[in-house]
Amino acid sequence: MKTVLTDDPYKAAEFISAGGIVAFPTETVYGLGADIFNPAAIKKIFDAKDRPADNPLIAHVAELSQINEIAMELNDRAAKFIEEFFPGALTIVLRKTTAVPLIATANLDSIGVRMPSLTIANSFLRACKTPIVAPSANLSGKPSPTTWQAVAEDLDGRIDCILRGEATDIGLESTVVDCTGEVPLLLRSGSVSLEDLKSIIPETIAYSIKDGEKPKSPGLRHKHYAPAAKVLVVEKNFVPASPDRAAYIGLDRPNTDAGFDYVKICGSVGDYAHSIFEFFRECDRRQIQNIYCESVSNTAIGAALMDRITRASEN
Ligand code: TXA
Ligand code: MG
Repeated sequence: MKTVLTDDPYKAAEFISAGGIVAFPTETVYGLGADIFNPAAIKKIFDAKDRPADNPLIAHVAELSQINEIAMELNDRAAKFIEEFFPGALTIVLRKTTAVPLIATANLDSIGVRMPSLTIANSFLRACKTPIVAPSANLSGKPSPTTWQAVAEDLDGRIDCILRGEATDIGLESTVVDCTGEVPLLLRSGSVSLEDLKSIIPETIAYSIKDGEKPKSPGLRHKHYAPAAKVLVVEKNFVPASPDRAAYIGLDRPNTDAGFDYVKICGSVGDYAHSIFEFFRECDRRQIQNIYCESVSNTAIGAALMDRITRASEN
């Protein structure tokens, strides 16, 4: 399959109408989209990414009225979060309508819904005239793509089209909050933090898997965000065990950078979050073997960053 590159959201949307799959930018990471009401197109997403069939997709909408087509009545928790955080980097899990095919939700009776704020994403979604299901546009298990070039690296020849945009602003995937129960559950951290959610609904809690329980968010049980290199989370002032073919990323300059083949010092935690997935990819291109990531304080976007680097270190 030839993958068409375009800067035109209307041209990209034509591939969706024809039953194809299209990668597009959002403010978090690039997504790989299909028409939510076209099961054959959705199947192509799972095939192109090698994504496990039990990992549900997020539905992306251009306007609030589209939520009624795919989710049952909005409860007051969901309505409050939508009022505060849409459009933006928050996905809300709701009960789905029967119109949504089960392949989209991996057989769950709920659906994650998000309205991206990035202008070109909104233009594309509007032109599609249907909600678009989209996971991150990477091969399953790889770091999420924050540039169209990273999408092409993984998926060129496997998808119909890439809508080219800028490098993504936030660089980490959206926050996911389950609003199907009485108490909102934070399933995945992102730039909308637990503190942000609690400021709207104080009862909101972070979900943690209890022993022997099936995880609420199936994505949590899959390998994620991992470069081929080994990832090590370290404190400021550590001394690397094996500086050979090693890289470092953090806020503070390491004690000794003499041994490092590749070093990135970030100006802020936000910059660190924005850079991490592309840094991982660049380390793989350079055949780095060990990536040292400086730990940061577990608050705000730092919590999401620590979640991603900790997961990467567990692979
Ligand atoms: O920022 C983002 O969220 C990006 C952009 C493209 O929107 N998308 C993204 O999708 O990161 P993906 O598929 O890579 O991650 C979706 C996460 C997974 O962990 C999945 O298990 C969870 O959201 N999820 C989706 N639908 C769910 C549902 N109905 N119930 C629980 N978790 C759900
Ligand atoms: Mg993903």
